[in-house]
Amino acid sequence: MNVETKNIIINKIAKSRINEVDFNNLGFGQQFSDHMFVCDYKNGKWQQSEITPFQNISLSPSAKIFHYGQSIFEGMKAYKDEDGKILLFRPLENIKRLNISAKRLAIPEFPEELFMEGLETLLRVDENWIPTSEGSSLYIRPFMLATGNGFHASPSDEYKIVIATSPSGAYFGGEVKVLIEEKYSRSANGGVGYAKAGGNYAGQFYPTQLAKEKGYQQVIWTDDNTHEYIEEAGAMNIFVRIGDTLLTGPTSDRILDGITRKSIIDIAKDEGIKVEVRKIKVSELVEASKKGNLKELFGAGTAAVISPIAGFGHRGQDYDLPNIENSFAARLKKRITDIQYGRAEDKFGWSYKVQK
Ligand code: PLP
Ligand code: COI
Repeated sequence: MNVETKNIIINKIAKSRINEVDFNNLGFGQQFSDHMFVCDYKNGKWQQSEITPFQNISLSPSAKIFHYGQSIFEGMKAYKDEDGKILLFRPLENIKRLNISAKRLAIPEFPEELFMEGLETLLRVDENWIPTSEGSSLYIRPFMLATGNGFHASPSDEYKIVIATSPSGAYFGGEVKVLIEEKYSRSANGGVGYAKAGGNYAGQFYPTQLAKEKGYQQVIWTDDNTHEYIEEAGAMNIFVRIGDTLLTGPTSDRILDGITRKSIIDIAKDEGIKVEVRKIKVSELVEASKKGNLKELFGAGTAAVISPIAGFGHRGQDYDLPNIENSFAARLKKRITDIQYGRAEDKFGWSYKVQK
């Protein structure tokens, strides 16, 4: 069936696959909804955008994405509230960041309004795929890739943007222990660490594999220059509680400006928690842990929400975090998810209602 909205052609799947999905065992990012949003860039401009069935993308072996990794992505979530309204969390921040990443990777920016129209149309078409059980949501993965051909190491002249969605549960299952990494780096000054470039993640896999072999689930990245300061935890920004102060590092060239991170800072301040945004030394963590002042460590990101860290390894030594009643992580997670799922007053104006 072909239907045309103002700017988007909708080409629906003949038969929904939704009954094949066990919504009680979703995992993270493993099932894909019926449709996706697609738009191609050719001849110097973005072409007609479409909603199509979720399907393979066919590319020439010479497509530049395969050789030079010109690709970026975003991560967002859609939630359903008790009245069945579809909610997004600060979506304009994601499209802004998508375009910041695009610029850094020499990919043409995508118009914000068309992105929102495409996303909202997709969510209306696949609204039944938004899970409603506790802790689950529809993970949204917008991405852009170089589809133009040629082995010349220069930017592609053709691109594709896709928004695909995946009904998902928790990102991590079980306890998260992290290893403080002092050899490998995730990013460097002047590099692409602040962008969500696919290659940033590829570069993390090998050091993370090594950490996993030692019994850790994630790596805490330190600055590439001195390895003295903690920067990020895998695909999350990192927060530390020393005494009753909540600390997180400042964003930079090397650190992703996380939307969860900045929301947590605002919520924590609103809760009356003392927040410091400053560089945090590894030695400060170790010292605080030895003195019993290191109360919490947690990662924050869209996929992982707030993930408490049970302990960290550093130079062959393990440091365990205490089990705390009424932890900052638990309080902040409740506040942010209550806003995301439309269960609490949205005093910051972050919740975005998708018009039906
Ligand atoms: N840091 C990195 C490297 C990430 O990939 C992510 C995930 O998006 C984050 C931090 C958290 O950012 P956000 O809260 O915007 O999802
Ligand atoms: C997200 O938190 O949405 C991310 O993009 C992290 C991803 C690597 C799973």
